[in-house]
Amino acid sequence: MTAGIDDIAIYIPRLYIDASDFAKARGLDPEKLQKGLGVAQMAIVDTNQDPACLAANACLKIMQKNKLSPESIGRLYVSTESSFDESKAMNSYVIGMLEQVYGQGAFEHCGGVETKFACVSGSYALYDNTNWIRAGEAEGKYALVVVSDIAKYDMGSSGEMTQGAGAVVMLLNDKPRLLAFDPKVTSTSIKDEYDFYRPFGKETPIVHGQYSNLLYMIQVRKALEAYKKKVISSQLIKLEPGETILDHIDFLNMHLPYSNMGKKALAYLVRHEWRQLPRWKKIIQSIGIEEPIPKDPRGTIESVLGDQEFMAKDHAFTKLFTKTSEFQEVYEAKLSSSLIASKMIGNLYTASLYLGFRSSLEFEFQKGIDLAGKRVGFGSYGSGSSAMVFSGVIQPEYKEIVKDMNLESEIGERRKLTLNEYEELHENKLGPEESMVHSKHEFVLVDVKTDAEFRGERRYVFNA
Ligand code: HMG
Repeated sequence: MTAGIDDIAIYIPRLYIDASDFAKARGLDPEKLQKGLGVAQMAIVDTNQDPACLAANACLKIMQKNKLSPESIGRLYVSTESSFDESKAMNSYVIGMLEQVYGQGAFEHCGGVETKFACVSGSYALYDNTNWIRAGEAEGKYALVVVSDIAKYDMGSSGEMTQGAGAVVMLLNDKPRLLAFDPKVTSTSIKDEYDFYRPFGKETPIVHGQYSNLLYMIQVRKALEAYKKKVISSQLIKLEPGETILDHIDFLNMHLPYSNMGKKALAYLVRHEWRQLPRWKKIIQSIGIEEPIPKDPRGTIESVLGDQEFMAKDHAFTKLFTKTSEFQEVYEAKLSSSLIASKMIGNLYTASLYLGFRSSLEFEFQKGIDLAGKRVGFGSYGSGSSAMVFSGVIQPEYKEIVKDMNLESEIGERRKLTLNEYEELHENKLGPEESMVHSKHEFVLVDVKTDAEFRGERRYVFNA
């Protein structure tokens, strides 16, 4: 049975910091953020917002836009790594908020959980809900999968320049207008790792930045290898001699902790795929140097990162490779449109990959390309760590949805924060009643109880 994404909506908080202001305040070269990482603005949550409000606001948007009744929703999953309770699942808060609009008990029939595996958990949630539909369990109902996060790092840390916040919701059904997932090809890799993690009670993660960059690429590549085997054995794609699987993927969406990570990952995957093919000879000739090999080619990530001579040579080689016309062509055609939203918004952890998908639909459509029948590949990564690679095909009805996409109007009017304001927000110095913008038609947090008996209970209202 077909199953996939029927529609997609985003909710982005209306506060942001500008990368240049931020760089100046931290004594960094603004070019490092803008060109080096591909960060222009980072969305920041207001004092009266938490990841549950972001998720509920995204859900309300997609339900109102599609005139969906709560009865038509069979499942509501929230995937997040910004959880604020060890037991009560975030989808229960979201349902509580939606019932303020749709009436108490309106979602009583609905099932769902909160899922966690750093940034990849939304992909697992999508997969599980797709299979719920494929198994015929949905009985014509939709699933809502919401990915919602606040990417917040310690002040002064290198991660601080890759923050962001927001939620993306995907409406899944058996007659998707946007994208039908390819069956039986979803592939994963998993390994016990400490590249990025957030122990209990700590608001910000512990991060080994360069290690995480490399691990991301290794894990996604492993999942891609498994995907390749599945698409070939299931005969979804037939590879002709001299071809790579990436030749059969029209658009690629990667997890985007910062937009340039997408380009870095693409270069890594393409290099590994092309190395075995006749076209590589010509590329090596045009680069003018051989591809460097680490001293210990079968070593650990630590040994590769510790091999400074190799790292420097590999960095130089990658730079030259990404300038070749062959790579540029792939980058422009398959990836670049997915990076536009990330530059404006920043890292959304679980939601980053899907914000990229949303971005690529809008900006590829604007190029005048007919998207129907195009295959979209997804490279999902979550620290800790696991990767998932899967794909889908854009459906003939996609125009109904994509023609009205407008990122700027969907984000709405934003307010630029001064560095002082940002730091006050970062250090949680303000209460929910001291919000900086007063948005209408949105759910906001009004209170978190502190007395022993009700500690942690959250109250939300809908600002009509
Ligand atoms: P860093 O180490 O300070 O930065 O922090 P860098 O030295 O690697 O520089 C970044 C880029 O800017 C480099 O480009 C520099 O050359 C360039 P590259 O060589 O890689 O192409 N650059 C400049 N360009 C122009 N003008 C300049 C200039 N200076 C430097 N003046 C790091 C970077 C990503 C490590 C840091 O921000 C960090 O720790 N971030 C958080 C962790 C992270 O995002 N990891 C990504 C992979 S893991 C992941 O994606 C999972 C995650 O989303 C969590 C989850 O799963 O839940 C994080």
